[in-house]
Formats: sequence, structure tokens, C-alpha cells
Amino acid sequence: MRIVKVKNYEQLSQMATDIIAGRIRQKQDLVLGLSAGSTPILTYQLLAQEHQQTGLDFSKTKTFNLDEYYGLSPTHSQSYRYFMEKHFFSKINLKKENIHFLNGLIKNPSKECQKYEQEIKKAGGVDLQILGIGHNGHIGFNEPGSSFNSKTRVVKLDRQTIITNSRNFKAAERIPQKALTIGIQTIMSAKEIILLAGKNKKRIISKVLKSEITSDIPATVLKKHPNCTIIVEMN
Ligand code: F6R
Repeated sequence: MRIVKVKNYEQLSQMATDIIAGRIRQKQDLVLGLSAGSTPILTYQLLAQEHQQTGLDFSKTKTFNLDEYYGLSPTHSQSYRYFMEKHFFSKINLKKENIHFLNGLIKNPSKECQKYEQEIKKAGGVDLQILGIGHNGHIGFNEPGSSFNSKTRVVKLDRQTIITNSRNFKAAERIPQKALTIGIQTIMSAKEIILLAGKNKKRIISKVLKSEITSDIPATVLKKHPNCTIIVEMN
């Protein structure tokens, strides 16, 4: 696991953009694993700028998002699908059929999760996975205690995650207590991983670095990955 320390959020986002854009230029049909959340917002903006200004071409790129709130429709303003559409998909030339997302409204979630795993396999696996990290060390919505062998499934969100993410919901809205997420094993099968951590994540990142590999801090599993970079804002 490589650690790259950057001075500010702009540098973090520029570095992530350069890596992602570089991989797409090397392999047009790149399979890209994407994360929602506030951390990659500027990266998505910069990638969209690359598309508009330099013609970075997403027409063959396939994307798989990590997770979605269970119970939210793709058009709900707090769904991750809506978030990705707003910040990224609507600004680039990704083909609709190449966007893969877990459906938060699905009646039979375990079937949906199995289907997602199969779709990732059929695409040849994820080439580059972008991750954020929760204050409790979660990756995707794999909360503390998640098995390292876990695959795509429905999970109960951690109390801390619900509290942190409630900032995005209106007071009267019911905050989802569950989510669909790709598993830790699924994340680990990506060929390359980049985890983005802003300065608000300094504490959990230093915990990850100091700790042994443990499911109590899910992100520690990344130490076992052969090609994982953590870009962390340290100022
Ligand atoms: C989002 C996701 C989460 C977030 C994490 C950090 O798709 O899987 O693991 O990456 O909660 O979120 P932010 O960036 O909002 O601090």
C-alpha cells in the first residue's frame, strides 16, 4: 500500500484525476469502480473538465458504483445514483448502458446483489476502484465487523454512518438504515485501488496505518492489496 500525502484538497483531486484520466487513455474500455460521497466531487468535476477541454473519451468506459441506500429511488435527491448523475455522468460521454448501479428499490435484494457480482465478472472485473473512507474505517458500506470474504449484499448501516450522512437529508426525511454495497472481497478483486481521504479523515487514516489488519477497521484490509494507493490530505 502506497501513501501519498498532499497539501490540499485541490492537489488530492488533481492527482486522482491524473491517475484516472491516464488509465482511461491507456485502456479505453476501462472498468471503473466509483464512489459517491463528498470527497471525490472535485475529482469528478476535473474529469468532466478534461472531457470538455481535452476530449477525454468515456464512450467505452464501464462504471460500477460501490453502493446505494436501500429504499431510495434513483431519482431521490439523496440517492447515490442521483448524486453521480449530477456531479459526473451528466457531464461526460459515458453510455447509459455502461453505467452499473445497485437499485435501492429492488424487491429481491439478494438476487440484485448476485446479478451485480455477475455483471462485474462479465465486464472482466474492475480495473481501477476509487474509494472514500468513513470515519469508522468503512469502505463502500462495509461497516466495522464486515467479513473480508463478503460480496455484494444488503447491510445495516452503522450508527456513526447514519449520523454523519444525516447532514445531507432534510429534517423530516427518513434516513435509510440499510444499504446495498459491494463486498470487501469484491473491492479487493479490483486490479488497482485508489482511496481518497480529505483532511477530515486524517485520524482514521493514521489509525488504519498503525493498526494490524482487522475487520474492526475494514480499510486495513487494503494493506493486503498489491496495487493500492491512499492519497491523503495532510496540512
Ligand atoms: C460512498 C461510499 C462511502 C464514502 C465514505 C466517505 O459511495 O462508499 O464509503 O466513500 O463514507 O464519504 P465522504 O467522502 O462523504 O466523507
